[in-house]
Amino acid sequence: MSETLIQLRERALVCTACDLSVRRTKVVFGEGDPLSPLVLVGEGPGDQEDKSGRPFVGRAGQMLDRALVDAGISRERVYICNTVKCRSCDWNGDRPTNRPPTPEETNTCRQWLIPQLAALAPKVILCIGAPSAKNLIKPNLKITVERGLFFPCEYARTAIATLHPAYIMRRSTQTDDGGYSLLVADIKKGWDAAVRLTAGSA
Ligand code: URA
Ligand code: SF4
Repeated sequence: MSETLIQLRERALVCTACDLSVRRTKVVFGEGDPLSPLVLVGEGPGDQEDKSGRPFVGRAGQMLDRALVDAGISRERVYICNTVKCRSCDWNGDRPTNRPPTPEETNTCRQWLIPQLAALAPKVILCIGAPSAKNLIKPNLKITVERGLFFPCEYARTAIATLHPAYIMRRSTQTDDGGYSLLVADIKKGWDAAVRLTAGSA
């Protein structure tokens, strides 16, 4: 991990810049190989991530891990983080209900995400789900139509979006994989491009 990323993480772990800081347990900064040519950016931490401080460790994370393996990569070979670093949910007394981060929360948390991506300097960013893709590729991206395509990106040589495991889980039935095979294919496409771009710049 470069010095910059370590310092950035230390500052992010105590961030109180938006209201999500009030009820979070842990800031989920991100983890993995900081030298990886591929960085995965999800939406935001859920319950398990909030408790552990690690990205994609709950049910969606388990599907993501399986998809990485099915794409021929292990989780350790990429870097994984999220658009917002604290769990976003509404509270009914002590009962949390997950909700997508608001545009304000997303915007405020870019103060961590953008320098993080600058420090990682990946060849390819893989946006996991629409909120990440809208944040990093273009605001009007249509995930079901435009997933699996390469786009120019300010923060990497190129970026590609894929379906979120939580969306796939909601959609899958006994006869329909809900888009799981597309997730695997998009991961593989992103990884292959990242490897190719690395070889090209060697
Ligand atoms: N969903 C996400 O988008 N990110 C996580 O870290 C976990 C679930
Ligand atoms: Fe800070 Fe981001 Fe957490 Fe808001 S979500 S408190 S901006 S780290």
